[in-house]
Amino acid sequence: KARVAVFVSGRGSNMAALLYASRLPDAAYEVVLVASNDPAAQALALATAEGVPTFALAHRGMARADHDAAMEQAARDAGAEYIALAGYMRILTPSFVAHWAGRMLNIHPSLLPKYPGLDTHARAIAAGDSEGGASVHLVTEDLDMGEVLGRIPVAIRPDETADGLAERVRLAEHQLYPRVLADYVSRPYDAAWLLERVRALALALPETH
Ligand code: GAR
Repeated sequence: KARVAVFVSGRGSNMAALLYASRLPDAAYEVVLVASNDPAAQALALATAEGVPTFALAHRGMARADHDAAMEQAARDAGAEYIALAGYMRILTPSFVAHWAGRMLNIHPSLLPKYPGLDTHARAIAAGDSEGGASVHLVTEDLDMGEVLGRIPVAIRPDETADGLAERVRLAEHQLYPRVLADYVSRPYDAAWLLERVRALALALPETH
């Protein structure tokens, strides 16, 4: 089974969906760590109740690189092969993102490429869209711009509020994320990705002549 660390900042309903899906027979992944930048995150209590190891470190007063390094260490210590961001509301440093390239997924509450960033529901409603939704994508340096792996639409009602839409999108997210993550970690051997990594490593080696 693929070993997944889930990064959270808040309620953790997506983390719960990922975790319980991993308890189904023949699950493709297991959750080996739930890590947060907020020691008070509700998600941590749920993980603890379910016997999943947790790591929490408040980011306040810390340099971004130092905080990321601590999160990185926790993921490594847990033997994580993948990171699933699930309502993790911190932007990660480019070196962290590079280290996990092709191995880090995020769920975003819009139908990407529409509405990267914040306030996605209010923006979709204000634009008069007939549907909002959620997307799971690979994390790259450009915020919310990595390859989209899966999307799920949610209807926008005539009298929709951002909070009401956010609640329904959350329910839809719980269906989307476990499936996309399971499919992704089960994908056939990725020769192109491996070649890219070998190239990058070779370039990083010191010149020998
Ligand atoms: C989810 O709706 C997720 O799409 C969103 O935060 C919520 C977390 O809910 N993520 C972002 O806005 C990322 N920029 P949860 O803690 O209940 O899973």
